[in-house]
Amino acid sequence: MIKLDDFSSFFVANWKLNGNLEFIDQFISKLSLPKDRSRCVVICPTSIYLDYMSKHKSGFYLGCQNVSQHKDGAFTGEISAESLSDLNVNFCIIGHSERRHIFHEKDDDINLKSSILITNKLIPIVCVGETLEQKEKGITNQVLAEQLKNSIPNVSNSGNTLIAYEPIWAIGTGLTPKIEEINNTHHFIKKHNPRFHNYKILYGGSVKSNNAKDIISLSNVDGVLIGGASLKSDEFTKIIQD
Ligand code: PGA
Repeated sequence: MIKLDDFSSFFVANWKLNGNLEFIDQFISKLSLPKDRSRCVVICPTSIYLDYMSKHKSGFYLGCQNVSQHKDGAFTGEISAESLSDLNVNFCIIGHSERRHIFHEKDDDINLKSSILITNKLIPIVCVGETLEQKEKGITNQVLAEQLKNSIPNVSNSGNTLIAYEPIWAIGTGLTPKIEEINNTHHFIKKHNPRFHNYKILYGGSVKSNNAKDIISLSNVDGVLIGGASLKSDEFTKIIQD
């Protein structure tokens, strides 16, 4: 398993349902990786291209965007953690708000998925975040505490799991919380429950080259999860180099 403590920061590209072979070849040829090897760069393409990317990449890690909670068996269309491990995939985004809302994944599913990833020596990147309505009601911390308690399995610890805080209203909207709000929320996640004291926490939601540096330099932020801006190799390069 990757040693999370070897890295000072994490830059995770979530390509969602985007990209094809031509896109991947161009992206990789234009991408310029940071000289600072303590910056961990992870790219999560659609799973069908993981094998191709694992053969053509160098200098960055691969992540998947979802996994089956089942080990194997009659589960048509699913992808197992063991198969991901075979393809040299080291990370997997779990419980992204699009999975929670569009595909109705619940904390219990996320807990099982995280657990099977850890068993197979992959790092789950467990996403949590509040809706705009929950933010406006002032219950963000309560929502996050509940999601974390239920989504993160007992086998998890700060050495085998990453947490991503992604306010749902900030995803793909160009809106972000104020910079001090991000730091405060990460502080809350690290401190409210002794279990999560040493976890590394990524921020996600409208991260771009013009705000990534400010976000990543916050004392309680250990990395960023990037959607839209990670599809442009020049923009992504700026974010990881800056
Ligand atoms: P965004 O997406 O950077 O396009 O807001 C982030 C995410 O969905 O992880």
